[in-house]
Amino acid sequence: MAFYSEKVMNHFQNPRNVGEIKDADGIGEVGNPVCGDMMTFYIKVKDDKLEDVKFKTFGCGAAIAVSSMVSEIAIGKTLEEAMNITNAMVAKELGGLPPNKMHCSNLGATALHKAIEDYKNKQKEKK
Ligand code: FES
Repeated sequence: MAFYSEKVMNHFQNPRNVGEIKDADGIGEVGNPVCGDMMTFYIKVKDDKLEDVKFKTFGCGAAIAVSSMVSEIAIGKTLEEAMNITNAMVAKELGGLPPNKMHCSNLGATALHKAIEDYKNKQKEKK
């Protein structure tokens, strides 16, 4: 496992914020076209900030580590700040990913952004 950074291994073995938010304000789901793995993010929003973020990832170790890191970075951020989180940023925070695993990092921030968009659409519907 030498090609995984310590941070990746840590987040894979002890993923933070795993689970589902039953009354989520927004849900974002993405599939990885390369391998078929799936990731779902659930968000709770309060005062324009991400109060809680949880995820369920049906995928490889790198995808789990990426989801865990995204959730950790995102909690407490404003919606705008969270929209500025990029997949590359997450991979960097994890101390990098092996080149053949970079495609796994493409899910994380995208799923989070989709959950935020879902929340915004729901807000519009309410108005
Ligand atoms: Fe599918 Fe990593 S192999 S997300």
